[in-house]
Amino acid sequence: MKFDTPATQNPIDQLRVIGRPTDRIDGPRKTTGTAPYAYERHDVAPNPTYGVVVGAGIAKGSIAAMDVKAAEAAPGVLAVVTARNAGKLGQGKFNTAKLLAGPQVQHYHQAVALVVAETFEQARAAAELVKIEYKAEPGAFSLAKARAGAKPPKADDGPGGTPPESRIGDFEGAYAKAAVKIDHTYTTPDQSHAMMEPHATTALWEGDRLTVWTANQMIDWGRGDLAKTLNLPKEKVRLISPFIGGGFGGKLFLRADVVLAALGAKVVGRPVKVALQRPLIMNNTTHRPATVQRIRIGTERDGRITAIAHESWSGDLPGGSPETAVAQTRLLYAGANRFTAMKLAVLDLPEGNAMRAPGEAPGLMALEIAIDEMAEQAGIDPVEFRAVNDTQVDPEKPERPYSQRRLVECLRTGADRFGWKQRTAPGQRREGRWLVGMGVAAAFRNNLVMKSAARVRLDARGVVTVETDMTDIGTGTYTIIAQTAAEMMGVGLDKVVVRLGDSNLPVSAGSGGQWGGNSSTAGVYAACLQLRELVARKQGMDPLKAVFADGAVREGGKSATLADAAGRDGLVAEDKMEYGDLDKKYQQSTFGGHFVEVGVDAYTGEIRVRRMLAVCAAGRILNPKAAQSQVIGAMTMGVGAALMEELQVDEKRGFFVNHDLAGYEVPVHADIPHQEVIFLDETDPISSPMKAKGVGELGICGVAAAVANAIYNATGVRVRDYPITLDKLLAKLPRVA
Ligand code: MOS
Repeated sequence: MKFDTPATQNPIDQLRVIGRPTDRIDGPRKTTGTAPYAYERHDVAPNPTYGVVVGAGIAKGSIAAMDVKAAEAAPGVLAVVTARNAGKLGQGKFNTAKLLAGPQVQHYHQAVALVVAETFEQARAAAELVKIEYKAEPGAFSLAKARAGAKPPKADDGPGGTPPESRIGDFEGAYAKAAVKIDHTYTTPDQSHAMMEPHATTALWEGDRLTVWTANQMIDWGRGDLAKTLNLPKEKVRLISPFIGGGFGGKLFLRADVVLAALGAKVVGRPVKVALQRPLIMNNTTHRPATVQRIRIGTERDGRITAIAHESWSGDLPGGSPETAVAQTRLLYAGANRFTAMKLAVLDLPEGNAMRAPGEAPGLMALEIAIDEMAEQAGIDPVEFRAVNDTQVDPEKPERPYSQRRLVECLRTGADRFGWKQRTAPGQRREGRWLVGMGVAAAFRNNLVMKSAARVRLDARGVVTVETDMTDIGTGTYTIIAQTAAEMMGVGLDKVVVRLGDSNLPVSAGSGGQWGGNSSTAGVYAACLQLRELVARKQGMDPLKAVFADGAVREGGKSATLADAAGRDGLVAEDKMEYGDLDKKYQQSTFGGHFVEVGVDAYTGEIRVRRMLAVCAAGRILNPKAAQSQVIGAMTMGVGAALMEELQVDEKRGFFVNHDLAGYEVPVHADIPHQEVIFLDETDPISSPMKAKGVGELGICGVAAAVANAIYNATGVRVRDYPITLDKLLAKLPRVA
């Protein structure tokens, strides 16, 4: 069905199951270790072999010679797959660099060989014996240096695509005349997804048919790209990914593990398992690219913005794409004169790509410090400053209203709840050795909708089985899909079975861009409407009047249990939800306010996050328990971005030095004593029949700036270069006795 007019009353609004805090239906399997992850598919791929990936030891150049004889002769080794014996490979449309390189090398740790052996240990030992001579070429590894040659990128037409530049009114003129103004430059570093489960695949050939059990957020994209890379018809490839140990955008696309496992399995004629070795992941796969961002804002004396400009520079491999860090600045605040621009430099570092809230997450790291600085300059409380500059329409296209926008309510609710009134002037609050401060930032992330299909079956036991190729990357998708089917069919969660993550199932929205929750459940809604109609017609009932409740259907004095209605053969329905142009007529976004309290050690500069609060407005919250977990996780990740995370670039050799979980530290939930999440009670009928939006990315947006602003409030020291480590504070801390 097509969604092209705002939703009216529908069965989801009954809220018998939807909207209630619900435990994860897959929780018991995960906590008992019976939910199989990609690397663990011993059941389906017996007698497996093991592959270990060899990554390139240079960032740019070519392989002059490769000697694999010693590796091939090592105990247990079955094959060494390289570009020389892999056959002709294509390239998926979502990969900038090749997933098996040679002789050209495009980035450090790009895969150049897969050693396949009887055991993992044998493969690992033999991989050490592959001898490679390189012919290294000079590359560009420093964004600071490459920035001067950066050019406007080509317009991106993908989901959330955004033009390289926008101009409204006369920014320069208005900025020159502004009563109060700021002009600052901020930097954000390269970051890694650092998900728990490595990229992993088990590959099996049956004749010319390939099945891969792999960790991937987007089944249909992955299937298409794998077919393209291996020059196979898409129908010959099956991709299965029912459980995923975190993705954060790092598993949106095909990676080397799956291509190499497939090639290896072909060569040895047995299943091959490949898990990218942890120290390889950060250079071999994608990362969130570093940015340099210049922000200029001018206001009237009363704080109203008259001019706002945001320029961002980032780098990527040749043919790559920019970090869209200016995206939110086109939408978030009012102001008649506006200018945003992205510039892309060519870098020979590993491929930059999407990581949780690409664009907005690093963009708000800069913008929301700038807003704090601007508010201070104008002498206005930062919560009030944001309220003064609120807009209910797209500021670049005023004829487009927001479908719904309650940013100010998020901020005011948060201020009350957090005790914002107690905030002092910078550097004024002292508790023992701690300098204490509070910070605020707005959260903003667009709401994207994606076509999504599902199949639902009703069987003779009255059980509803939902099938779709949707993925659950740890977000709780299984549960909200079960809730949707239970609500639609009038059954309890115990009567719903959910099967996900298999390319044999109807093509879903997949998990990306925080569109998965709303879009995939909308597809299930569409399929369930069809099933309701089948059931009702079979009973001679009017489908529009039939009431589905308590495992039965009733209408006009007739009634039947769903089990009886299904009959011996059961009933099955399939449909998809597609979207018209409501997202063009209306700007659809999600909103929040982040509040943070930090303590900074007055002597050592050590920073502790003491309290955090997020107030979010994101349409109907389908499962408040899972949504709260999503936002808490995102807040924690935002603290990592503020204080810890940075891939250190070796600018001479062109690689990320701290490329494992020991060198690349991330905070965990337990590092922050108090985290609270509040959702405003709302529905957005313009987003879908679910009236929901996404929260998984909203939660990280603005967090790092709120931390930065709290550090400034605690110490009076403004740091504009992330991460905010103690060395950036120490020399500037107020002298204390
Ligand atoms: Mo997301 S960065 O689209 O997984």
